[in-house]
Parts: sequence; C-alpha cells; structure tokens
Amino acid sequence: MTPSETPVRVLFVCLGNICRSPLAAAIFAAQARERGVADRFVVDSAGTSDVHAGEPPDPRARAEAARLGVALGGRARAVTPEDLRRFDWILAMDRSNLAALEALQRRYGGRARLALLRDLDPLAGPAERDVPDPYWGGPEGFAEVTAVLQRCCAAWLDRLLEAAAPAAERA
Ligand code: 4NP
Repeated sequence: MTPSETPVRVLFVCLGNICRSPLAAAIFAAQARERGVADRFVVDSAGTSDVHAGEPPDPRARAEAARLGVALGGRARAVTPEDLRRFDWILAMDRSNLAALEALQRRYGGRARLALLRDLDPLAGPAERDVPDPYWGGPEGFAEVTAVLQRCCAAWLDRLLEAAAPAAERA
C-alpha cells in the first residue's frame, strides 16, 4: 500500500461514549460512504470514562441516527493508551475530554494527533469550542448536537482527505 492508500485512523472521544462520540463516528462514516471514500478511513469511538462501558448508545442518540438514516451500533468503551498509538487523529468532543487525552498522552506517549472536533466548525464563534454534553438535557439538545456533528464531520473529512492526497492531486 502506498502512503495515500493507507487508511487514516480516526477516533472520536467524549465522556461516556454513549451520546456524542458514537454519533460522531457514525455520521463521519456515513459521510465518507456517501462521498465514496469509506475505504480511506478507519473510524471508532471511545470515552474518557468507563462508567458506561459495555452499554449500547443512548436511545436519544439512536433516535438521531435513525432520523438521519445512519447506522449506529457498538458498545461503549474507555479510551486506552493503545488508542494513542494506533490512531492518527483523536478528535475530542470538548475541552475536558481533550485535557484527559493530553494527560493520558503525557503519561503513556503515542503518536496520535489530538484536536477538538469543533476546531473546524465553520459556524462556531470563538467561545463555542465544545460539543455541548446533551446527556442531562432533552431531545432538543441531541438535535443541536447532531447539527454540530454533521458540519464538523464534513469539515474534518475535507481536511483529512486534503492532507492524505498526493501532492499532484492537491495542486
Ligand atoms: P457522552 O454523554 O459523553 O456524549 O457519551 C454523557 C454520557 C454519560 C454521562 C455524561 C455525558 N454521565 O454523566 O453518565
């Protein structure tokens, strides 16, 4: 495989891995499929906490996925030091998740690049750096989160495809 054919490995991370990050991973994967580039990515999600480990996604996240017609499966798991070695990019839903990932990387190393998902949100103001945590709110919070995830995933897909393209394609 040439470097441009090696899939880019992207891990989406939130706190519980039952609301935001599984939905983000499902939306990113669906957008990659729609654009015919699914084979260029390996996508997964995890949480900085293990309190929901083993659970399926929250029913409200499942309802959002159903509304969009995207497949949402899997079981929650906690992020591991191995993830920091295996993934190229780890995209955190909020600054608290990012701080936890940075602490893990300081302790265990790993080459993964860490960023906030909303770093590329085309509509976010300077203060809107976090994907809001919808867990304690109602279904309208999940609809808002879904809209943020859709536009951020599209922007990251553009960015990562651009970064992976050979120089001739980028010219
Ligand atoms: P997530 O949402 O981090 O988007 O999966 C949460 C899930 C569970 C909790 C908080 C946020 N909790 O406090 O149990």
